[in-house]
Amino acid sequence: MNRYIINGGKELHGEVTIGGAKNAALGIIAGALLTDETVTIDNLPNVSDINVLLEAIRSIGATVDRVNDHEVKICGATISSEVVDSEYIQKIRASYYLLGALIGKRGSATVAMPGGCEIGARPIDQHLKGFRALGVRCEEKDGCVVAKVQNLRGSHIFLDVVSVGATINIMLAAVLASGTTILENAAKEPHIVDVANFLNSMGARIKGAGTDIIRVYGVERLHGTYYSIIPDQIEAGTFMCLVAATKGDVTIKNVIPKHLESITSKLQEIGVTVDESDEEVRVIADPGTRVHSTQIKTRVYPGFPTDMQPQITAVLMLAEGYSVVNESIFENRFRYVDELRKMGADIFVKADQTSARIHGVRSVKGAEIIVPDLRAGAALTIAALAAQGKTTMHCVDYIERGYEDFDGKLRSLGADIIKVSD
Ligand code: UD1
Repeated sequence: MNRYIINGGKELHGEVTIGGAKNAALGIIAGALLTDETVTIDNLPNVSDINVLLEAIRSIGATVDRVNDHEVKICGATISSEVVDSEYIQKIRASYYLLGALIGKRGSATVAMPGGCEIGARPIDQHLKGFRALGVRCEEKDGCVVAKVQNLRGSHIFLDVVSVGATINIMLAAVLASGTTILENAAKEPHIVDVANFLNSMGARIKGAGTDIIRVYGVERLHGTYYSIIPDQIEAGTFMCLVAATKGDVTIKNVIPKHLESITSKLQEIGVTVDESDEEVRVIADPGTRVHSTQIKTRVYPGFPTDMQPQITAVLMLAEGYSVVNESIFENRFRYVDELRKMGADIFVKADQTSARIHGVRSVKGAEIIVPDLRAGAALTIAALAAQGKTTMHCVDYIERGYEDFDGKLRSLGADIIKVSD
């Protein structure tokens, strides 16, 4: 495990470029297996979750040709197995997309139960409900989901819970089914639209992605494509919060400002300047002024993303007055607050873990802290960069699951951060 050594208290200035959306890329890599032709994926983020998934598809025989850090060619024609049960695949959440893709391609899949960050129970019952509606027999056996189907057929599915993963997974399984699948109460996140656009570029017929009713008209086969992934909403939002907490003036390039609206409007409300233009946002935070307090509740898109909850809490820890942050998606997403307290934050988390009440403090100080999960790691980096003095952050490998060259990008903005290998 690696450590960050951070000397905080420096304003950030300059430009930073955002990479491709990790959570779109995960669905797209799995979707690439649905054709026997070669698929080229560009603007791929070079982060460990992506590399684990690429390794997993290689382990079942897919051809994976890494053209460079951000481009990969995948060919699913050489797949020789439907069993993905390696130890490393259990580390990532998105292993579940191999279920949808292999069901669609081969009518059979055995995939290790998904892992990922420990932020709540994270069941996959809605994924299985969707597959079953398409005629798939699913059972859990020896830590794996075993799925088999003779005739994959379209169906009408109503999700009981709005789930990003289930929405993408059902689309993956349904594109090659016979007939039409109607998915109601679907998630609307930008990466769902991106996965649908990608599948359509392969010849799929998906309509309505981005609304809560998605229609998938089954097609007989898909073909190869070249596809460039959208920018990562959460990486961009993280840099926006970084500037809000450390102060300074940073232009964040390669973003889709529309995807950032819930974050932009909250930052503007608390006194941060955010100027949007076509493909960039400029964030300016005045070093002489503290941000104001506010109330936030995480919601499905277009609401405030749960994946930005820790980062905005790190900003509000320094706000003037009391803020309340409600977490409505996951049950256990405030574990990082203990680490912020070590730095001097005054935050009280309700016993049922649904909300945090934040009494803003004027400043926090460096400390020795441990990263509990990916987005918490981003939040703790924000806190450490805004703190006075030195912070040692342990277990920063979690951050590398979803942020490419995070410390390097921060250094280019003037942050005093180094990564040390244990
Ligand atoms: C995805 C993202 C994650 C993000 C989350 C919410 C990936 C790889 N991960 O995770 O970064 O935080 O969306 O935007 O894309 N649920 C069920 N049954 C299910 C599925 C989900 O009850 O079958 C519940 C979950 O426990 C959670 C809520 O639905 O409370 C939303 O989960 P979901 O949108 O599925 O999140 P993930 O796909 O796990």
